[in-house]
Formats: sequence, C-alpha cells, structure tokens
Amino acid sequence: MKRLLFIFGTRPEAIKMAPLIKEFQKDPSHFEVKICITAQHREMLDQVLDFFDIEPDFDLNLMKKNQTLYSLTSAIIQELPKVFDAVQPHYTFVHGDTTTSMVAGLASFYYKKTKLCHIEAGLRTYNKYSPYPEEINRQITSLLTDLHYAPTKASTQNLVKEGISNDRIVITGNTVIDALFLTLETIKSDDGKNLDIKEVVELTANINNYILVTAHRRENFGEGIRSICEAINTLTKSFPDIRFIIPVHLNPNIKNVVYQLLGNNKNILLIPPQDYISFVYLMSKAYIILTDSGGVQEEAPSLGKPVILLRDTTERPEALESGTVIKASANKDKIIQLVSELIEDSDYYQSLSQIKNPYGDGTASKRIVQHIKSLNQ
Ligand code: UD1
Ligand code: UDP
Repeated sequence: MKRLLFIFGTRPEAIKMAPLIKEFQKDPSHFEVKICITAQHREMLDQVLDFFDIEPDFDLNLMKKNQTLYSLTSAIIQELPKVFDAVQPHYTFVHGDTTTSMVAGLASFYYKKTKLCHIEAGLRTYNKYSPYPEEINRQITSLLTDLHYAPTKASTQNLVKEGISNDRIVITGNTVIDALFLTLETIKSDDGKNLDIKEVVELTANINNYILVTAHRRENFGEGIRSICEAINTLTKSFPDIRFIIPVHLNPNIKNVVYQLLGNNKNILLIPPQDYISFVYLMSKAYIILTDSGGVQEEAPSLGKPVILLRDTTERPEALESGTVIKASANKDKIIQLVSELIEDSDYYQSLSQIKNPYGDGTASKRIVQHIKSLNQ
C-alpha cells in the first residue's frame, strides 16, 4: 500500500489536483490518499472542493485578509510538520507555482522520508519577477522534486536543460484538461435546470455577445489593473451591443479597483468568483476571453475561444503557438486594438477560434497514477 499526501491551497491547484485525487481514490487496494489544504484561499478553494466532492483530512485554515508572502510562507512552514508526522507519506504531491506548493515542497524536504511529486512541472519564463512570485516558486519546487510530471514537451525540455535526468520526468498532459472534460460532460448531461449553472444560464440568456474577463496577478496590481479597466470602459463605448462579464477575484488589490472603476457601467456585469462548472459554462459561451490567468490560457484553446493575454510574459508558450492566445500585456491601447480587431474581422476571429488542444487529451491523471503504481515503494 502506498501512502499519498496531497497538499494544496488555492483555487487553481484544487481544480488541477481534483481529477488526480479522484483517480487515485478509485484504487484503494494500492493507494491510501490523504489530503491537506493550507486554505491559502478560503471561499474560492471551498467552491472547488464542493464541486468535485473532495473532503480534506487536514484543513490548516491559514488565509488572512490581504495576507503577505512573508506571513503566508511562515504560517505554512510552521503547520506542515505535524501533517507529515501524522501521515508519514511515501509520496507527497504538490502542484504548480503557488506559495503553498513551494513551501510544502520545502517542508517535504525537511521531513526527508517522502518523495516529492510535482504536478505541472517545468513551466518557465526565466524572468524572476514575471510572474511574481510564481516563477521562482516553480524553480525552487523543481530543485526539491523527486518526480517531475511535466505537461508538455516544452516543459520537459526546460527541466532537462536544468540538469534533471530524463528518468525522473514523465510527460503527462495537463490535469486541467481532465478537469475541463469531466466538467463539460457534466454540463452536457444536464439541461441547465438542475445544476449549479442555473444562475449563469439565466444571467447570459438575454445577452447576445459577451467578453469574459479575469485578472488577479501581482504584476498587474496598481497601474496594470487600472489600465485594463480603462480599456474595458472605452470598449463598452465603442461596442455598446457587447457586454463584459467579470467574475472578480477576491484579492482586495484587484477587487477594490475593479468595483471602483467599472461598478457603474451598465454594460459590465461584475459578479463574484464562480464555481468551476459555472465558469466553464461562461467560457464556453463567451465570444473572447481577456485574462492574466495561467489555467484559463490552457482551457481556452480546448474550447476554441480566442484569448487576449493581459500579461507581459507567459510560461505557456504552447498557447501562444496554437494561435488562440495573443499577448496584449496590461497595455490599454493594445487591448482596445486587439479586441476591436476580433469583433470587426470575423475571418480573423474564425482563424483564431479553431479548436487546438496543446495541453493534453484528458488522460493526464491516469498517466500519473499508472506511473506511481509502476514504482517500487
Ligand atoms: C494566489 C497565488 C497565485 C495564483 C492565485 C490563483 C501565491 C503567492 N499566489 O494569488 O499564484 O495564481 O492564487 O487565484 O501563491 N482572498 C479571499 N478569499 C479567497 C481567496 C483570496 O478573500 O478565497 C483574498 C484575501 O484577502 C487574501 C488575498 O485574496 O489575503 C490574496 O490571496 P493570495 O492567495 O495570497 O494571493 P492571490 O492573489 O489569490
Ligand atoms: N476559475 C473559476 N472561477 C472563476 C474564475 C476562474 O473556477 O470565477 C477557474 C478557471 O477555469 C481556471 C482556474 O480557475 O481553471 C484559474 O484560476 P486563477 O486564474 O485564479 O489562477 P491561475 O490559473 O492564474 O494560477
């Protein structure tokens, strides 16, 4: 029996870990699965746990309003030793690039008697401050990792270039596509009446065309988010028939500015963060998506939705190459220009909305489970 410990804390980690946890839980004769949430996020994490019906064994309940990187890092490292002692995991799983992932990796190294498995390994910009602090979180986590589960060829190559031997890297696709496919199936098997998507079905029922927007990155705090909001306000004047739907991230550095600058514009619908199934529904019906999110860049190409990227850098080059993602940064004029082109030129729009899926076929979780199963304890 292999004892597994999953440690995560934010919305995107939970979405991307959920299908993997479910896959391991299908095989209780080989795997004992324990789940620890730091609750670096609270409401936004709980939404995901509810939707995927995941019950944590340990809830560290650490989120504080407007927490800092310093306070969060020290709170997590203080709390994790007791979890390692209680579970004594053979394998510890962390995901991606958050402070939870990096600190849990460090704690697993201090504990010593466990192998660290990094899901979504090898993504890089090699720009220390973009995304901040995620690029360095990823690099530190890679140093600590024993088994690297890389989503794509490009992420594998980054790890190899950094001197990690091929026999410790497995290329899997991204588990977000597993989560997305599972969720699209659930939406398809229902007519929208009984599920949690009822509210968004009603919200969008009388809207012909809308643009979906998300933003939350630290690099965009201050000037960046103001410039994004100004671009959206200008676009509502140029295109009065188009609506903007914005599920506003709960980080006060984003939320306060967005409500202040966009709260009184009747063509903009500001709504709370949506549970995963509602957000997938909103993506699937949107005309374009404007985002600085990592996960949304991976999901949108699978849905054939053009994305205008509100960041200077991306660790997801496949999304840019697939053509569905175009970079605008948080540059007001560039955002206005790119959105206008996509609205006015339908041939251009069609050429970008071809469905391409560089992030996998929905079987990443199965591959990871098979690999762990094949290992000697
Ligand atoms: C975090 C991650 C980021 C990830 C993002 C996904 C770090 C340093 N940042 O950024 O990598 O892309 O999550 O969304 O790991 N808040 C709530 N309720 C919630 C969640 C957040 O009120 O459910 C508010 C709190 O005031 C909290 C603040 O948002 O202090 C910031 O949360 P934090 O996790 O530190 O940063 P994010 O910007 O959410
Ligand atoms: N998402 C969600 N509800 C929302 C906005 C986003 O469920 O209101 C999902 C989205 O589909 C993606 C993930 O959250 O899977 C992305 O999270 P976020 O943008 O917060 O973090 P990042 O991916 O940038 O780390």
